[in-house]
Amino acid sequence: MCGIVGILGTHEVAPTLVEALRRLEYRGYDSAGIATVNAGRLDRRRAVGKLVNLSDLLVHEPLAGKAGIGHTRWATHGAPTVGNAHPHRVNGVAVVHNGIIENFRELRAELAELGYKAETETDTETIALLAAHHMDRGDDPVTAAGKTIARLEGAFALVFLFDGQDDLLIAARKGSPLAIGHGDGEMFVGSDAIALAPLTDRITYLEEGDWAVVTRAGVEIRDENNTLANRPVKTIRIDATRVDKGGHRHFMAKEIAEQPHVIGEALSHYLTADGRDIALPDTMPDFAGVDRLVLVACGTAYFACVTAKYWFERIARLPVEVDIASEFRYREPPVADGTVALFVSQSGETADTLAALRYCADKAAHVVSVVNVPESSIARESGTALPILAGVEVGVASTKAFTCQLTVLYLLALKAARQRGHLDADALADRLSALRSLPGILNHALAQDRSAKKVARKLAEADDILFLGRGLMYPLAMEGALKLKEISYIHAEAYASGELKHGPIALIDKRMPVVVMAPRDALFDKTVSNMQEVMARGGKVTLVTDEAGLAEAGDGVTHTLVMPTVADDLAPILYAIPAQQLAYHTAIAKGTDVDQPRNLAKSVTVE
Ligand code: F6R
Repeated sequence: MCGIVGILGTHEVAPTLVEALRRLEYRGYDSAGIATVNAGRLDRRRAVGKLVNLSDLLVHEPLAGKAGIGHTRWATHGAPTVGNAHPHRVNGVAVVHNGIIENFRELRAELAELGYKAETETDTETIALLAAHHMDRGDDPVTAAGKTIARLEGAFALVFLFDGQDDLLIAARKGSPLAIGHGDGEMFVGSDAIALAPLTDRITYLEEGDWAVVTRAGVEIRDENNTLANRPVKTIRIDATRVDKGGHRHFMAKEIAEQPHVIGEALSHYLTADGRDIALPDTMPDFAGVDRLVLVACGTAYFACVTAKYWFERIARLPVEVDIASEFRYREPPVADGTVALFVSQSGETADTLAALRYCADKAAHVVSVVNVPESSIARESGTALPILAGVEVGVASTKAFTCQLTVLYLLALKAARQRGHLDADALADRLSALRSLPGILNHALAQDRSAKKVARKLAEADDILFLGRGLMYPLAMEGALKLKEISYIHAEAYASGELKHGPIALIDKRMPVVVMAPRDALFDKTVSNMQEVMARGGKVTLVTDEAGLAEAGDGVTHTLVMPTVADDLAPILYAIPAQQLAYHTAIAKGTDVDQPRNLAKSVTVE
């Protein structure tokens, strides 16, 4: 949700601000803007739509200056218009903001009484109004910003820039991440280290409630009690922040193709040297003493959790409660002391997941997270943070993070089964050996891309598509439907195939493509019966199965995608690939924006 950047540089900053925003554009792309201070004078440029529109504007109306801030927006309050785009400016104060100021109406009313009228629909403008009001009363910028930040409620990351000050940025973090970058005679601020990667590898992450006074000489950070705080400077691995398409047409295509590699990385991280066991951090609770597991996440990460429920319950005989974070947090579920609560998040910043985590931490649960960004809020607030090692995921539709989440969750389920006495050492070693062959098998699935493309051309003609699966294929069907709708804008639904006759079968007619995910596993015959019911009513079936499944049930289906044979429990990881390929090629056929689909953003840091 919104990307922000600030630079105190030694050269003209406008091109560098735009370049940093390009690396943050996955966070929102409704509008973008930058502000600079040049010869003491604050000025700004803003444009609606993708960043390229701002770049074009800057060609015609350049902005000079060696100090500046920038923003790429995912609209919360107010439509994506130039007026609502950031930076917001009131008198000598400009501000960029990510998050939501919950008390902005109250502040706006207070300021209106004092003669400071809002001109936009945004909550952000209120921040600038408040700071301008303090400055008009004689406060210097640092004091004015400090007083302003103290009044703000909600979740935010923000950066101020002031007229007449070309060596000052003020940054604050509460609920949304913010990183300070240290250069040589230059300083940077960014929503994440990725934005700053080409500029510096020395990063200080602000903690919750911190605010920072940044000058070219360095940074002074205060905590939420206004006490000077010492935050470490970390050197980040630049290769961990590489953002390029690697010769692919889209980030999503690259990220789909990377899956065998990144899953291999995750396995090397978690498997012991002899490959017979799983190494977890010492902070990880022993599953032997656990009688219930709570799994919470949003979107694709939630579907990874639903898949994991099948694994934990079947293999480790451990009951699992799984919930969507936005429901869990307000449901006020009882959480007994010592419950193990597991949160799954690619970004590690999803507001609802973070709130659910805090709810469980308050109830003295043991909080474990499965995250892709090790420096994220969710990772840092967990008792144990388990990385998925997917590498930077830029495509808004999650692909490699999903399969890496599944891989780590499967390892946890195996560990739980071993610790709870449901797998002996040899059985665990066998399962791990099967898992080690998965990257190779995934490569075979990737090679089916052309067949997926052919099917996708047909899917692209539909208005509605149904995905069906049973058992472990049910959450995968949900993920397949989500992937398709988010990037192709075609309405897609998923059902557990056994649920079909309880209502959804009424939808079936010859215009309704139905994608059936069905490896030849123990539930195959049941799924095939449901598939026959669909075909009997004219439904056009795409069957995604293996050779054995094709031989048994291929007759009469409209299209097939044939996957390599794999151990039943690993099928969700393998079958994720055709689900992703179908969505990807359908989106291409529809001509939508694959990496930056409408209305979405990668990191959902607002409720
Ligand atoms: C869909 C997608 C989203 C995210 C969800 C949670 O492709 O990416 O549904 O899975 O917004 O995000 P994280 O995993 O960052 O918590």
